Amino acid sequence: MNSTSNHSPAAVAVNLQSPALTLALVGAATLAALYWSFKRPLVDKNGNSIPIGPKGFPIFGSFPFLTQYPELTLDRWAKKFGDLYSVWLGNQLFVIISSPEIVKELVVTNGAVFSSRKEMFVKSQTVFAGRGITATPYNDRWRKHRRIATGWLNQRAVDNYTSILDKEATVLIKSMYQESQGGTVPINPQPHAGRASLNNMLSIVFGTRTGSIYHPLVTQALKIGREFMNVTGPMSNLVDFIPLLQKIHTPMRSRGQKLHQALVDTYGGLIRDIDHRMQMGEHVPECLAKTMLEMQKEEDLDHLDMAILASAFMIGGVETTAAIMQWFSALIPAYPDIQKRAHEELDRVVGRDRMPTVEDEKNLPFCHAIVERCHNPFWLGTPHVTSEDSTYKGQFIPKDTVVVLNTWTMHHDPTRHADPESFNPERYMHDNLTSAESANLADPYTRDHWMFGAGRRICPGMIVAEREIWLTVSRMLWAFTMQAIPDEPIDLKEYDGLSGRSPVPFRINLIPRDAKVVQVLALDETPA
Ligand code: HEM
Repeated sequence: MNSTSNHSPAAVAVNLQSPALTLALVGAATLAALYWSFKRPLVDKNGNSIPIGPKGFPIFGSFPFLTQYPELTLDRWAKKFGDLYSVWLGNQLFVIISSPEIVKELVVTNGAVFSSRKEMFVKSQTVFAGRGITATPYNDRWRKHRRIATGWLNQRAVDNYTSILDKEATVLIKSMYQESQGGTVPINPQPHAGRASLNNMLSIVFGTRTGSIYHPLVTQALKIGREFMNVTGPMSNLVDFIPLLQKIHTPMRSRGQKLHQALVDTYGGLIRDIDHRMQMGEHVPECLAKTMLEMQKEEDLDHLDMAILASAFMIGGVETTAAIMQWFSALIPAYPDIQKRAHEELDRVVGRDRMPTVEDEKNLPFCHAIVERCHNPFWLGTPHVTSEDSTYKGQFIPKDTVVVLNTWTMHHDPTRHADPESFNPERYMHDNLTSAESANLADPYTRDHWMFGAGRRICPGMIVAEREIWLTVSRMLWAFTMQAIPDEPIDLKEYDGLSGRSPVPFRINLIPRDAKVVQVLALDETPA
């Protein structure tokens, strides 16, 4: 089904060919934006104004400052305007929160007001067609989808399918070992990490997996994931903030429409296959798609609901975890001392006759700290939007304000972490909590990181994500000495993506640490 029929903006789009029409529309947009910003009450009944912030340009607001490395601009502004400041992008007011205390006060404690989503033109309306939990406003449809999703992502569910995560982590090591021909040929870890994450999500969502990195679904799913990251930046699409641009055939709009179609064809197609097999009386393994089909009538789910909910898992759960594995692979060769210390800890606690497991994590504090530190430090997350007016310490936050957690600034706070730029796992040495446990701590300054967001919309996939990342990263450390290739520097500053962040392509050498690697891998009969 193509959701761009009927109510979508595509139906009322104007194809802008004429310069006069363009000029007229831009003029009208200017007037509309000016009218809108003057008309809108920006003080509360007690005279409290919105937080201060950068001035920006007419119509575009501060958009031109946020097209590249937005996290660095937001960080600069946090230093200038404080922990709560405002930014205009087109006609949209944003508030940027840069302190754990304010995140807790507004997004967690005041979650009834700070938990909705703005129906962004590209991400919510075009790509997700208003469905799926990620983009849905704080309403009954979101509650229903979130309930269905957490049924597959809570601690008990993850415990039940940990054997899948375990198997795919071993397959990852095997496929890297084979591709690198036992450490003699450099490899790009990206497709391997991508396939490991993909196989986990395919098993959970569709009860299936791919047999190699060359399976067409690996290429297709990873392409979809990257494209999603590149078209859905929370602050990087002008078309999201200038409504008149939404009536025009912009490249961003067509990319959003193509992406929507790819999601419906790929993941909706897999649901149709499962439906067909169930109707034919074939055995289908337990998976999210089967659950949705079984409860379709009772939960009033149409095909698009199911396709987009499955897509939310495939988008939320593949490129994200794969990106962390890639950052780990990019970072660790530059820190031989850290790698050596991790090897020593693994050899002492686990030994060389088996690979680390989930149970070992609590006894491997240094490896746990490495994993924590690899969590992407400049994630902007998915913004929330306010559903009512509120005032925080004399600063007015009107209804419909988009709220961004400035995680880059919070993760680089020198008052919390000495030398915040360096890759130093020590900052997490005394933190043995999982991210889910950490998110519930009463003191927000003791929370590990903000990569999974906060409050009622916090990432429901964090338990599975953490477990998957632990198994893959600790096993890579157990199996290989990871080395940069002479004359092929790894770029740790550049990245790919607007809403997620992956390193730009690189290659490394993965040298098996000893003969035990081959022996232990040979014991596992799963083909790579
Ligand atoms: C390292 C991996 C991951 C990262 C960094 C990540 C990050 C995030 C962030 C920042 C949010 C928005 C939270 C907020 O609004 O405050 C989110 C939401 C979400 N994530 Fe994740 N995520 C990861 C893995 C996963 C996995 C494995 C799944 C699914 C299996 C998943 C599914 C979702 C869904 C469905 C939402 C939307 C929740 C809602 O709006 O209610 N994520 N994630």
